[in-house]
This record gives sequence, structure tokens and C-alpha cells, in this order.
Amino acid sequence: MNFYEIETRYGAGVYAKQQLSIVRGQGASLFDADGNEYLDCSSGHGVANLGHAHPKVAAAIAAQAATLVTLFESFPNDKRAALMQKMAGLVPGLERVFFCNSGTEAVEAALKFARISTGRTNVIAAMRAFHGRTFGSLSATFNKKYRQGFEPLLPGFSHVPYNNIQALENALSAETAAVILEAIQGEGGVYPADVDYLQAARQICDERGALLILDEIQSGFGRTGKMFAFQHFEVTPDLLCCAKSLAGGVPIGAVLIAEKVQNLTPGVHGSTFGGNPLSCAAALAALDVIEAEGLAGQAAEKGAYLVEKLRLIDSPLIREVRGMGLMVGIELKQKVAPYLKALQDHNIITLNAGMTVLRLLPPLVISYEQIDRLVGALEEVLTDES
Ligand SMILES: Cc1ncc(COP(=O)(O)O)c(C=O)c1O
Repeated sequence: MNFYEIETRYGAGVYAKQQLSIVRGQGASLFDADGNEYLDCSSGHGVANLGHAHPKVAAAIAAQAATLVTLFESFPNDKRAALMQKMAGLVPGLERVFFCNSGTEAVEAALKFARISTGRTNVIAAMRAFHGRTFGSLSATFNKKYRQGFEPLLPGFSHVPYNNIQALENALSAETAAVILEAIQGEGGVYPADVDYLQAARQICDERGALLILDEIQSGFGRTGKMFAFQHFEVTPDLLCCAKSLAGGVPIGAVLIAEKVQNLTPGVHGSTFGGNPLSCAAALAALDVIEAEGLAGQAAEKGAYLVEKLRLIDSPLIREVRGMGLMVGIELKQKVAPYLKALQDHNIITLNAGMTVLRLLPPLVISYEQIDRLVGALEEVLTDES
């Protein structure tokens, strides 16, 4: 049996498996067992912002693996303390951090913190939102494709149209613990928030005593051209959910927490693996690389270059090109699946976002030559009339 057959036979069955097995990565490239190269424009769903096998992250992981991999958070540790200090400096006003192991866990923690802090139960999320697949985060996720078969989900959750200030204003009540939003919706179709909308959300939350949770699990750590997407909007959340690329590919989740979030006392929440020295060492190295290589600035410049080139593609299939930095969506007038397959036949790995949006989340280290290669393949695939 090959890897595909083994995984199809023994896996749980919850993933649609590609017939392409990958064994190695380097920068923005992935390689199969025969050494064939693929341009990775998915970054493992937005994880590999630094590219694959970054030598500084690899060295930090190797050194920490030989030193101390696991340590429960009740015992302080050099790497965790250093990462806490580093993260406290990322966003003025968000100086405390809770560590966990994935995006969905970061959202779970933020939802629990909002309830325990406000003493209220209700949560307002946006239509098209994706926040994860465990029960709390799934209750905030909108698409019924993810929810169906798992109801009843948590009570007290509702969804309002994204970028609609009036709908948010109408929905917020004295029972609202939190509003949770993505600054740019990812899975839902790559829709950036309007500046007015996020600023209004901040103001309405303040007026009604609710907390604002921003989910930057996909958009964080340079992806949109700034460290966090919300920094384009001059709005600061009370709880900021992070994961994906924070530790250069090693599993980690984190919630940055504002001073006004209360009642976070010992025992209120916790995680066995959260804050383990291995992922903290990887995250310290990854954050250093993001800063030293100016990856946010690179994402801004390369993203502008990519979008400009994409807008020049003369294809009747394209409805719109939109995005921020290197988080880009190409909305087609028809289903996107055959085009993802055609791109893979051109050795380029891309993603969908819903049925009709082709999503590009390349590593921020992608070169201009590689961007040209991507655009060339897209042009070919989207103008092929056969
Ligand atoms: C915005 C957003 N929130 C939450 C999640 C869930 O993260 P994870 O798959 O690590 O649980 C994702 C994953 O794609 C995401 O894009």
C-alpha cells in the first residue's frame, strides 16, 4: 500500500485525502517522495508563514528537544517566561497571555474568559465566520456544513451579517458577554472587515459592557502586511486569539488578554500541553524571524504585487480579487474545485474558501519568481477554454 492507501484505510475518514504525499519542505516549496517540487500556496492552511524547515526554528526545536520538552504551567520555565514577555510587548494593552495548543482551543479559552469575566452568557458572531470545530468554537462558526449533525451546540450564540453595523447594534444586549469577529474572514471567503465596522464593533462593545474577541488565528503574524490584521483598523480587542504560525509550525495556541478581563484565577482554565517549553522555544525563534526578516512588510509588498498581477488576468471566470497582504481570495463565477486540481497538476498547491473562492496563503518568504510562477499557472488554468 502507498501512503494514500494506508491513510485512507486507517485514518478516521474525516479528511478528503489528496493523491499527493508530501515528505519534505523547504521555504515555499514542498516535495514528494520522488523529489518532485510543488509551490505551496496554502502554508498548511496558513501555518507556514516563515516557510518550511526554517533553519532558526529547526535549531530552536532541536536544542529545546534535547533540553526539556514538557513542563506543566504551574512550574515556571525560562522559555515560557521569555515568550510571555515577548508576547506582552506585541500589542499595547494586551499584556497577559494564556497558552494552549491549537486555534480552536484559543477560541474556547477566549469564550470561557468572556463568560467568567462578564458574568454574562451570550456571544455574537458573524455570518460566514469560522472559529473552529470544538463545541464552543463550533457554536461561533456559521457554516452549517461544519455544524450539521452536532447540534445541540452551546446556547446563547447568534450570528449577524458581517460588515453590518446596524445589525450588530441591534443584536447586542445586556446579556452579551462577547462579540467575536475575524478582522478578515478566511474560510468564509476572504472578506476583509470595513474599517468603520470594526471601529463601531469596538465602540458598541464598550457602551454595552461586552468584550470584543478578535480571532487572528489565520490572519496573524504578518500574513496581512502587519503583525495582526486589526492593526490596519486602529482597534484593539479585549481578547486576541492566535495559533497557526505563531511557533513556525509547531502546534500552539494563545490568547492575549486585556487588563479589564477579570476573574482569571487559578483553576479557572488550563491545559496539560499549554505553554510547553518546546512550542515556546519554537515560538520565540519564529517571532524573532518574523521581526528580523521583516515578514509583515514582505507580505504587504508581495501581496500588493500579487494582487496587481492577478487583476491583470483577463478571464471571464473571475468575479473579484480581494484580500490583505498575502491573504488573497479570487472569487470565481463557478465552483473552484476543478481549478484547484488543475493547479495541482501544474505543481501548485492552493486552497478553497467556500465553493467559489480560490484562496492563496503562501509562505511570506515566497520569492517574486515564485509569485510569477503562480500567476502564470493561474492565468493558464483560468483562461483555458478546453
Ligand atoms: C479564523 C480561524 N479560527 C479558528 C481556526 C481553528 O484553528 P485550528 O484548526 O487550529 O483548531 C481556524 C482554522 O482554520 C481559523 O482560520
